[in-house]
Amino acid sequence: MAATFPPDATLSSRVTIAPGVDMPWLGFGVYQARRGRETEDAVAAALRFGYRHIDTASIYGNEDSVGRAIAASGLPRSDLFVTTKLWNSDHGHARTLAACEKSLARLGLAHVDLYLIHWPVRGLRLESWRAMEELHERKLVRAIGVSNYMEPHLEELLAACRIRPAVNQIEVSPFLQQRSVRALCAREGITVEAYSPLTQGLRLDHPVVVAAARALGRTPAQVLLRWALERNTVPLPKSVTEARIRDNAALFDFRLGPHAAALDQLEEELHTGWDPTDAP
Ligand SMILES: NC(=O)c1ccc[n+]([C@@H]2O[C@H](COP(=O)([O-])OP(=O)(O)OC[C@H]3O[C@@H](n4cnc5c(N)ncnc54)[C@H](OP(=O)(O)O)[C@@H]3O)[C@@H](O)[C@H]2O)c1
Repeated sequence: MAATFPPDATLSSRVTIAPGVDMPWLGFGVYQARRGRETEDAVAAALRFGYRHIDTASIYGNEDSVGRAIAASGLPRSDLFVTTKLWNSDHGHARTLAACEKSLARLGLAHVDLYLIHWPVRGLRLESWRAMEELHERKLVRAIGVSNYMEPHLEELLAACRIRPAVNQIEVSPFLQQRSVRALCAREGITVEAYSPLTQGLRLDHPVVVAAARALGRTPAQVLLRWALERNTVPLPKSVTEARIRDNAALFDFRLGPHAAALDQLEEELHTGWDPTDAP
C-alpha cells in the first residue's frame, strides 16, 4: 500500500517512496518557467518559502537554472529533493544513461533524488527501464519512476522490472481524478505525484472551488492543492509569481472537511496538456 497523507502534516513532512528515500509531500514545478532569471528567481523564492522538492525535466530546458538556484541557496544537498526526467528522444539503453549524465551535469549535482521516464515511449520503454535500474545501482539516482503511465503501461512494467517504480507522475485534479490508475498505484505501493494540480489556471474560477475557498478563507489554488494532498497525491504546483509561490505552500493549517466531497463531484476528464490514455 502506498502511504496516506497524514492530516497533521507540515511543509516539512515527507512520504517514503522507496527504501531510505523520503520525498516532501509538496513539490514545486518549473514547466514553462523560462531558463535563466525567471527559473532561478522562482526556485530561489520557493526554497526561501520552505519548499524542498523541485520538479524539472530535460525537455523544460531549465535544469541549469534550477541547479544555479540550488547552489546559491546554500542549503545542504540532503535537505533537497530534486527530480528530473528522461525525454522521449533519449529512450534506449545507451541514450538513457547518457541523458541522465547530461541532466546531472546541467543541474550541477552528483545525483538526483528521483529520475522519471517522462512518457511511455512505445517499443523502447522497457529497455530504458533497464538503464534506469542501472543508474540506480550506480547511485546516480536515489529512486526511479515513471510519468504519464496508465494501467497497461504500469502492468507491463511491473511484470518485467527488477526495481519497481517508486512514483507515477500523472495529471491529477478534481477535474481529472484518475481514480483507477490511482487505485492501482495504491495497491502496488507506487506514490502518485499530481502534475498540473492547478489545472494550469483553467478551473480556478469554478464555482464549487470558489465557494470552498470563500468558506475556508483560502485561495482557490490552496483548495485544489489541499484536495490533492487529501487524496494522497503529491502536488507539484508551478508559479513564477512570488506571492503565489508563498501562498501555494500554505496548505498545512486547514482541512477541506465537507468541501472535499463537493470537489470529488467535479470529474470531467479535463486533460490540460497531453493525454496518455490511449498511448500504445
Ligand atoms: N510529467 C509531465 O508530463 C508533466 C506535465 C505537466 C506538468 N508537469 C509538472 O507539474 C508542474 C505543474 O503543472 P503545470 O505547470 O502544468 O500547471 P499548474 O501548476 O497546474 O498551473 C500553473 C499555472 O497556474 C498559475 N498559478 C500558480 N499559482 C497560482 C495561484 N495561486 N493563483 C492563480 N494562478 C496560479 C501559474 O502562473 P504563474 O507562473 O504566472 O504564477 C501558471 O500559469 C509542472 O511545472 C511540472 O513540474 C509534469
